[in-house]
Amino acid sequence: MPPRLTRSPSTVPAPDAAGRFRESRLSERIDAAITEAGGVLPFDRFMELALYAPELGYYSGGARKFGVLGDFVTAPELSPLFGYAVARQAGQVLGHLGGGRVLELGGGSGRLAADLLGELERLDRLPERYLMLELSAELKARQRATLEACVPHLAGRVDWLEELPTGALRGLVIANEVVDAMPVSRFRIERGQVLEELVVVHEGRFAASWRPAATPGLAAAVVRLAAELGPFADGYESEINLRAPAWIEAIAQRLDAGLLLLIDYGYPRREYYHPQRRAGTLMCHYRHRAHPDPLVLVGLQDITAHVDFTALAEAALRVGLRVHGFAPQGHFLLASGLDGYLERLDPEDEAARLRRLQEIKMLTLPSQMGERFKLLALSRGLDLDLIGFALRDFRDAL
Ligand SMILES: C[S@@+](CC[C@H](N)C(=O)[O-])C[C@H]1O[C@@H](n2cnc3c(N)ncnc32)[C@H](O)[C@@H]1O
Repeated sequence: MPPRLTRSPSTVPAPDAAGRFRESRLSERIDAAITEAGGVLPFDRFMELALYAPELGYYSGGARKFGVLGDFVTAPELSPLFGYAVARQAGQVLGHLGGGRVLELGGGSGRLAADLLGELERLDRLPERYLMLELSAELKARQRATLEACVPHLAGRVDWLEELPTGALRGLVIANEVVDAMPVSRFRIERGQVLEELVVVHEGRFAASWRPAATPGLAAAVVRLAAELGPFADGYESEINLRAPAWIEAIAQRLDAGLLLLIDYGYPRREYYHPQRRAGTLMCHYRHRAHPDPLVLVGLQDITAHVDFTALAEAALRVGLRVHGFAPQGHFLLASGLDGYLERLDPEDEAARLRRLQEIKMLTLPSQMGERFKLLALSRGLDLDLIGFALRDFRDAL
């Protein structure tokens, strides 16, 4: 095999030697997968390997992802205020059900789990167990360490799972920024035909190659989108998450009673596939710089796509869940009593107050995370008005 050529966009810092080594090992593994598949790999499979190949993928390997020293900051990493507000919604649901469990999917560094457990204890609404579904051994270890450091007396309530629980679940299922990290298929319309992005090796580098869509279900799904929204213009490119509906259905089948809360950046379908969004929403994050090339910095950068919330709601309806609420993050957090946190602060500590006020702005302002991130609430057997959706609920837009 010729030596692997690597390249980074000029807008991001170059990785160090250890990063380059990890990148070349994962690239070799993906090369082998491309050869095995006959020289081309559907983009969703490339994304899956880049993020989740055992030990080497971005999420399954040892890269530092979250926080100032990583590549991006999520809401729970940004501030404990996020967990404080979500706990109020969780507490309402657990109170209504008379108890239950919490299942967190893709719990990152464990921050949300620690904040939620701490607040639920204050509210006297602790779940019977807190389950964390985490595939990465590295993240599992980090989650354990975060819980031991922040809420050591509650860490014994947490169980780690490798797959969805087998038995029925009552309580809350929560996933923050998980759907955006799922592998997506990429499509392009050319002379009325649906093409699919495949990844090939060209002159020692990964490159995109567009061929007639062959991934099962892809062409039919794009045709359905066009039938619903109107035809796509020639050259229109976007992506579609063909895996999320089955994922929602699998969770829903286990949810006996309670709430599934999905938090992510995304749009209702009509906005997602807007004629002017001609290049889709795929984005990569490396050291707090965003750029659109997923075929570089393999295993070192995050690859994400926005979420089509209409597709998630439809999948939920198919398996008998109720679409219980849909709101921008800012409205949800304020309706859940986010500002109540300030009362807890020492009135003499002006610096702490200013810091928290700054975080409230980041989490809620439309120009920051307040409008881009949204919460979709899906439920079964929950006959109550959810507090988080009292200020604004735009389910009609789905
Ligand atoms: C962007 S990170 C978000 C981490 C954390 N929730 C936070 O807010 O900081 C995405 C996480 O989703 C996880 N993930 C992706 N697909 C998943 C799936 N099907 N089931 C569970 N976790 C998944 C990834 O492993 C990763 O930990």
